[in-house]
Amino acid sequence: MRLRGKVVVVTGGTRGLGRSIAEAALLEGARVVCAARSTGDLELIREVGHDRVHFHHTDVRDRASVEALMRATHDRYGRLDVLVCNAGVSNDGMVRDLGVAEWSEVIDTNLTGTFHCVQAAVPYLEAQGGGRIIVISSALSTRVSPGAGAYSVSKAAVDMFTKVCAAEFAGTGITVNAVAPGIIDQGLGARLAENDLVWDAVEARLLAGRPGRGEEVGNAVVFLASDDGSYINSHVMEVNGGLLWS
Ligand SMILES: NC(=O)c1ccc[n+]([C@@H]2O[C@H](COP(=O)([O-])OP(=O)(O)OC[C@H]3O[C@@H](n4cnc5c(N)ncnc54)[C@H](OP(=O)(O)O)[C@@H]3O)[C@@H](O)[C@H]2O)c1
Repeated sequence: MRLRGKVVVVTGGTRGLGRSIAEAALLEGARVVCAARSTGDLELIREVGHDRVHFHHTDVRDRASVEALMRATHDRYGRLDVLVCNAGVSNDGMVRDLGVAEWSEVIDTNLTGTFHCVQAAVPYLEAQGGGRIIVISSALSTRVSPGAGAYSVSKAAVDMFTKVCAAEFAGTGITVNAVAPGIIDQGLGARLAENDLVWDAVEARLLAGRPGRGEEVGNAVVFLASDDGSYINSHVMEVNGGLLWS
């Protein structure tokens, strides 16, 4: 029960990896707000969290929508302790072919969406004397994969954004870290692992020899959000089973 009494916002917390993160926080006693554009697997998450899980309709690309999320969370629970910036999308395409709309959707969601969430959450965290911000990055923030340019660039940028925020919020009690998953058996990763061409290329470089489980990422997020992670700041934690590809 490492998060008992804590209020955690998970953007994109309705399905895929966000669902795993929400469930891991619920199992540790947190109250969790799952924020996304659709309810996804919310009914299944409720089986874990019962009355401790709440859905808030949110589009992280829209500043007013994100501000409403943080305000509604504070109005409902009287506090906000942990922000997990997990909402993310990927549009594949080589640079010469990728459309502006596809590029922009990835940058607006993964990078600018994270910026909106952090800016909107910080006043609440600061007023409470501190809190935790955890950004979900990716193994592709540091590894070149032709055809994944928009996604990789957005994740490299959130790694740096994490470090800039950690430095700027020093002294406020707010820590800012990132978790960079490899291929996980939920969401985008599950779809990749089912693609034999992709999986064969990854498996040869993957010490674990298997995709990660959603709860293995959820546990890393809980660790950073809990008192166990109190002295960790400005860190990008790789949770990828030992992915040697560089
Ligand atoms: N799964 C993996 O193996 C893996 C590996 C590395 C990194 N990641 C990262 O993990 C995060 C979650 O990915 P996933 O694999 O779980 O993908 P997913 O199954 O497609 O889930 C994405 C989540 O983000 C939400 N979302 C997307 N656009 C949004 C927006 N504009 N506003 C609010 N919510 C939005 C989606 O809900 P709605 O569509 O209903 O809004 C959904 O809940 C992403 O940041 C991804 O880059 C995943």
